[in-house]
Amino acid sequence: MSLKTATILSLLITVIGAVVLLQGSTFHWFGNQQGYAPVQPIQFSHKVHARDHQIACLYCHSGAEKSKVAGIPAAAVCMNCHSQILKNSPEVQKITRALTEGKPIEWIKVHSLPRHAVFDHSRHFAAGVQCQECHGPVQTMERVAQTETLLMGMCVNCHRTHREVTLDATGRAIVSKERSQARLQASTDCVVCHH
Ligand code: HEC
Ligand code: HEC
Ligand code: HEC
Ligand code: HEC
Ligand code: HEC
Repeated sequence: MSLKTATILSLLITVIGAVVLLQGSTFHWFGNQQGYAPVQPIQFSHKVHARDHQIACLYCHSGAEKSKVAGIPAAAVCMNCHSQILKNSPEVQKITRALTEGKPIEWIKVHSLPRHAVFDHSRHFAAGVQCQECHGPVQTMERVAQTETLLMGMCVNCHRTHREVTLDATGRAIVSKERSQARLQASTDCVVCHH
């Protein structure tokens, strides 16, 4: 290899490296992470759990009903079943190991908003907005992917639309296409999402 080719090559590698680093540390600035589907430390399948075995989303993401964050279940929750089910599977043994070593499983976050934007799961849950409207058909996924843009345009588009809902006694929405006893319109004020 001539000196010139080597210089050009190393320059190229530096530029590519810089771009990768920049993307990694500042992807929030680019906003759109649609299609992002990182490999997780354990091959956890939503299709197996949420569809084939019909485990409710809230069994593992109970935070979505009550708080801003939906949350990722602790390893102890997995052991409710896996202390019995498939306990000899190498993937399941990673859970056991995490517990005995006292180290949390390092799941890689898929969906994130930049810090200047505010999001609250419980408000959407109470208004009857389905998980799938923002996360796609998670129950069919072997590995979670971000299916939507989660950009401001997506949020505001839905906030602009009226939703036809029926409220139950506790003020929680019962989603219905037929009945329309209440009309919800979420706010589009800047401060609602930026404060
Ligand atoms: C309510 C019960 C239940 C809970 C809770 C649960 N699982 Fe499972 N899991 C299952 C069932 C049922 C299967 C499929 C068993 C089969 O295929 O025979 C399964 C399969 C798996 C497999 C596939 C293993 C293999 O070798 O094929 C992995 C990995 C797994 N679970 C990880 C987890 C993790 C991680 C958690 C916690 C976040 C968790 N599970 C929570 C019931 C549960
Ligand atoms: C048995 C437990 C379990 C059930 C049931 C479950 N999940 Fe999950 N969920 C997890 C775990 C563990 C992760 C983190 C690993 C991953 O991303 O696959 C996760 C990740 C996610 C993520 C990505 C979070 C991020 O990092 O941005 C979404 C979205 C999600 N789940 C939605 C759902 C929906 C919707 C349902 C119901 C259809 C559901 N989950 C059912 C355990 C569960
Ligand atoms: C209106 C849109 C929307 C709906 C509906 C929604 N989510 Fe989310 N979800 C998001 C956004 C946006 C994030 C990223 C939040 C952040 O970066 O702080 C997120 C993050 C998550 C995460 C990652 C952990 C966390 O709490 O940040 C999980 C798990 C999750 N959602 C599960 C669910 C489940 C389960 C439901 C249904 C019960 C649901 N989501 C409904 C928009 C939504
Ligand atoms: C599919 C429809 C839909 C999408 C998409 C959606 N929202 Fe909402 N949002 C709603 C509804 C409905 C409410 C509840 C309004 C109510 O309670 O009156 C709400 C409420 C809120 C609230 C509370 C408003 C208040 O008055 O305090 C915030 C904050 C919010 N959304 C932020 C977001 C953000 C950020 C996104 C994008 C990541 C988003 N939403 C995407 C439908 C949606
Ligand atoms: C329903 C929620 C919601 C409302 C209402 C909202 N925003 Fe946003 N906004 C977001 C989210 C989520 C992001 C981050 C994702 C993105 O960059 O699109 C964002 C991003 C931004 C950005 C950064 C854009 C970029 O390219 O990085 C600016 C500036 C902004 N919003 C200004 C406003 C102004 C001004 C208003 C009022 C007219 C407003 N927003 C109303 C949710 C909202």
